[in-house]
Amino acid sequence: MAGCAATLLPTFSLAKAADGFFELTAEKGQARLYGPDGGLSDLWLYNGRLPGPEIRVKRGERVRVRFKNDLDEPTSVHWHGIRIDNKMDGVAGLTQPAVKPGESFDYDFVAPDAGTYWYHAHNMSWNQVPRGLAGPLIVEEEEPLFTPERDIILMLSDWRLDEDGVLDTESFGAMHDFSHAGRLGNWLTINGISMPEIPLQQGRWHRLRLINSSASRVLDIAPSRFGAKVIALDGQPFETPRDMDGRLRLSPAQRMDLVMRPETAEDIPFETMTGKPFRFATFKIGAGQGDDLPLKQPAINRLPEPDLTAAWELPLVMAGGAMGGMRALMEGRTRDELNQMMQDGLFWTLNGKARMDDTPMFTAKRGETILLESRNDTSFAHAMHLHGHHFRVLERNGKKLEHPDWRDTFTAEPQETVKIAFVADNPGKWLIHCHMLGHAASGMMTWFEVG
Ligand code: C2O
Ligand code: CU
Repeated sequence: MAGCAATLLPTFSLAKAADGFFELTAEKGQARLYGPDGGLSDLWLYNGRLPGPEIRVKRGERVRVRFKNDLDEPTSVHWHGIRIDNKMDGVAGLTQPAVKPGESFDYDFVAPDAGTYWYHAHNMSWNQVPRGLAGPLIVEEEEPLFTPERDIILMLSDWRLDEDGVLDTESFGAMHDFSHAGRLGNWLTINGISMPEIPLQQGRWHRLRLINSSASRVLDIAPSRFGAKVIALDGQPFETPRDMDGRLRLSPAQRMDLVMRPETAEDIPFETMTGKPFRFATFKIGAGQGDDLPLKQPAINRLPEPDLTAAWELPLVMAGGAMGGMRALMEGRTRDELNQMMQDGLFWTLNGKARMDDTPMFTAKRGETILLESRNDTSFAHAMHLHGHHFRVLERNGKKLEHPDWRDTFTAEPQETVKIAFVADNPGKWLIHCHMLGHAASGMMTWFEVG
């Protein structure tokens, strides 16, 4: 790593216009992803910023966003993890038509749960998100628990840079990526900054809100290695802060809220733990300012509890992909059909289907508990996301989990079976898809309906 480390700046917080709307515009912009020594990358950004501006609201608040598309192609905005009114979910082609270049769309919804969320483009996401169209969405508790300097958003994204440190735009949509682990980058930024120093205060509690906005990169984080406890996953707080040993997976779209109180003034490395520990940022500890506030756990959001005695059990089988997965798709298909699929850029199936059509995977009655048994019959990990609902992760490979935490995105390891349950209480049409965005584009996307 050349050059000197830049200090992480707080994310830019978007103010409301006079009429109460947040104004958000998708437009072309540029940034130096590699740092000051790298070239300028051509990006697609919200309000010209990387990451997109922070939208911060209070729990239960009505959120209105006047969105304008100044790109050359249609787009839409999805509010990831919000149990939202279906019309406002931002899925181009399912819940709204894509917003055409030069046009606008008003999003208007209520944010029912406090926590760490994010927003991102949801039309050709595999192309739009890894060019920069993503930003943090923070829903505050009634009383903020941390002072603003101690409530820190860390939006992690990986990028594929060429030898000049410039975003490689030529390889977008590469079929090899789609049929393997997705488009993986070779460079990591936090809030758009390469290898930053993150200022923290000695002897003071901080909240760190980690958001993985990468298109495909799974990040392994070991909070206990840097003295942090976990207080929430995917926006939903635990009952009490948890010391979690070992590596935790932060898959694409997942969030992890940590609390941390540095006891000494020494630098603390921030590392990913996939393979050898790799330092991608440094916590720089400065003098404590003002009082330390006691560690308070954010209040639990009230989510509908699944009723397992009356659950509708459904399989969600992931198949396909390289490394033998495509061969398995031969079952029930002719060679010609399989070749045609690949020519169409489809490499994966969910419950045997590679292309989403007008038929939902299932239609639930409102209030019904759905128990999904997902089976990953592929050689790759997937990050499965359900729109409009949070679910409890109950079991992995037949083993009940000690903490059946709420999530909106779960990781399914190769050959793993994961059981999740949720109450289908939000009427409308909702996607289920892999958040490795190239996988979603090449078959791993379906939908369900709540009547
Ligand atoms: Cu975060 Cu369907 O997306
Ligand atoms: Cu996937």
